[in-house]
Amino acid sequence: MRGPNVSRAGPGATGPVLQVKGLGRDYAMGSETVHALRAVDLAVARNEYVAIMGPSGSGKSTLMNILGCLESPSRGEYRLNGRLVSGLTDAELAHIRNREIGFVFQTFNLLARATALRNVELPLVYAGVRNDERRRRAAETLRRVQLGDRMQHRPNELSGGQRQRVAIARALVTGPALLLADEPTGNLDTRTGEEVLALFDELHAEGQTIVVVTHEAGVAAHARRRVVLRDGAVESDDGPRPVTVAALAAGSRGAQSEERRT
Ligand SMILES: Nc1ncnc2c1ncn2[C@@H]1O[C@H](COP(=O)(O)OP(=O)(O)O)[C@@H](O)[C@H]1O
Ligand SMILES: [Mg+2]
Repeated sequence: MRGPNVSRAGPGATGPVLQVKGLGRDYAMGSETVHALRAVDLAVARNEYVAIMGPSGSGKSTLMNILGCLESPSRGEYRLNGRLVSGLTDAELAHIRNREIGFVFQTFNLLARATALRNVELPLVYAGVRNDERRRRAAETLRRVQLGDRMQHRPNELSGGQRQRVAIARALVTGPALLLADEPTGNLDTRTGEEVLALFDELHAEGQTIVVVTHEAGVAAHARRRVVLRDGAVESDDGPRPVTVAALAAGSRGAQSEERRT
């Protein structure tokens, strides 16, 4: 087996990173059916930074869970990097989830007994990366989130902000095409939340595609595009305004600029 490709975040595809059409998700609740998502259309291009907003119960988490391949839609299409994901088996979904998606949760979801290093290594264990290579990449990713001096700490020996940064390192370690975060600052105080958002800004500047769910305007202000859900449908979308690294470089050279308004 060849060594892992570290830069899988940019596999060279030119189409949208994710595209959903007519996406629906129902839940049976006794004799009732809850239409958590009705018919969502959304495309997100490479290096976009999108905030999904909307009131409680509008379908944000359901959408994120489908985008993150944690759940399957009842209707509609989901393409990730051009590949049709809706309709795959659980095993195929698990594979895509491991390779293509980094997921950050409000409650961190770290293994309590494992060190920061071990937590970040885990996705690479599932990906079959060998021991020393896995250690190296997990350590490198922890340094990237400024936790180089906390690798042997367990979650209960870390602050909330540090835990969330471990979770972000775990999400990034496989070089996912897409970073998804559901209320990533929801359990953090304002200052710590700002640190996490500053990290997202940095990752975005480095080319990472990010979709974040939030109900806080301050969090959404960091994103470059805001999609508002209501009753399981898109109510408004101020994008898409894809900004590529190439376009930014062209803008800074003063070439025909595709610069975004911020
Ligand atoms: N597993 C589930 N079973 C039944 N109903 C659910 C389930 N998950 C979500 N719902 C319902 O779907 C709707 C959307 O929920 P959710 O996506 O969690 O909204 P949000 O994250 O925007 O608060 C809500 O009415 C919620 O009660
Ligand atoms: Mg939610």
